[in-house]
Amino acid sequence: MKAALHTEIGKELSIANDVEIAEPKEGQVLIKTEYCGICHSDVSVLDSLDLTPMILGHEAAGVVEEVGKGVVSVAKGDYVLMTPIGPCGTCEMCALNRHTLCERGQTFVFGTFPDGSTPFRRGDTPVYQGLGVGGFAEYTVLEERNVVRIEKGIPLETVCLIGCGVQTGVGSVLNTAKVTPGSTVLVMGLGGVGLSVVQGSCIAKAEKIIASDPVRERREKALKLGATSVIDPNNDDLLNAVMELTFGKGVDYAFDAVGSSELIALGLTLSKQGGSTVIVGAPPPDEELKFSSTLHLMMTEKRLLGSLLGSCNAQKDIPLLIDYWQKGLLDLESMITQTYPLDEINTGISDLRNSTGVRSVIKIDES
Ligand SMILES: NC(=O)c1ccc[n+]([C@@H]2O[C@H](COP(=O)([O-])OP(=O)(O)OC[C@H]3O[C@@H](n4cnc5c(N)ncnc54)[C@H](O)[C@@H]3O)[C@@H](O)[C@H]2O)c1
Ligand SMILES: [Zn+2]
Ligand SMILES: [Zn+2]
Repeated sequence: MKAALHTEIGKELSIANDVEIAEPKEGQVLIKTEYCGICHSDVSVLDSLDLTPMILGHEAAGVVEEVGKGVVSVAKGDYVLMTPIGPCGTCEMCALNRHTLCERGQTFVFGTFPDGSTPFRRGDTPVYQGLGVGGFAEYTVLEERNVVRIEKGIPLETVCLIGCGVQTGVGSVLNTAKVTPGSTVLVMGLGGVGLSVVQGSCIAKAEKIIASDPVRERREKALKLGATSVIDPNNDDLLNAVMELTFGKGVDYAFDAVGSSELIALGLTLSKQGGSTVIVGAPPPDEELKFSSTLHLMMTEKRLLGSLLGSCNAQKDIPLLIDYWQKGLLDLESMITQTYPLDEINTGISDLRNSTGVRSVIKIDES
């Protein structure tokens, strides 16, 4: 089959036509991937992880081609979304309702199934499954728990965004921070993830949604999607601007959707007493968080919350997010600004690096 391969740190992906896909084993599902969005985490892995060759792409939707023994939740022909972390439902973390911390879900970072195997190979060389999905390829095999059945006929080119960016952004608001009606929110970074935080904040009925990004087109999009004020951090001092907009109090919730420790520290400064700062963006692994006074955090009871994939239980939350979209509470269409065939995936990656448009979606099946 055809796939885009990460072969060397920082290099363009290369298109190969000779990747083999395994048969689905017991409990696994073979999926014909139709569409896959490009998320910043794909580019972060491409730029830093020397685990090659690897098929990236983890915001994917497709149609079930074949199921392995024992699979009960999906059948051939079903429309599905794929999720990087599929909760097993039985481990200690799942029992505690912390599904993104599922003990069987964490191998997504290693690009293999929990037993160390991968469904892709090229000759004798195993090909890693990037971020638990491997969506930039014609087919993939996932464990049943990473596959979520959705209604047949739903436009996969639109709902694929739920697989990562939307699950992450909306989930960080509803599940991690549990934003309450009437509250004030700051969203730093307005890519597919940050714009989903904006939309999640609207669903949570936040009263004031302040959004910041240096890219004008993205600030305009944020206003269209429900932000009440926008700030250009290259032109305005974010601290002063937020304090002015909140009458000197600060915000109830600050979200970093950039992946910057400096902005996370600024979030802690800009959140009001008892407020929360949510780490949604993924900072480089060795970056330290520097904050001027730890005592200040104790005295103000401010909270710092990590949020992985929106703290979602994908099996429950993906159908809920589809429902929000069907009810008009989530606008996915206006976040998708480019669609490319798999052959042009490197243009989509450049778009992401340059913040051109918002989300690029790759149309895998060119027929
Ligand atoms: N927590 C998770 O599970 C999870 C899941 C998906 C993505 N992520 C991470 O979320 C982050 C965002 O992903 P994305 O796909 O939306 O990326 P993106 O590149 O599309 O968007 C990032 C945005 O941040 C803006 N930005 C840069 N510097 C800024 C600053 N100083 N202030 C405000 N905005 C600034 C950029 O202009 C851009 O619009 C990435 O770090 C990604 O790896 C985390
Ligand atoms: Zn589990
Ligand atoms: Zn992602």
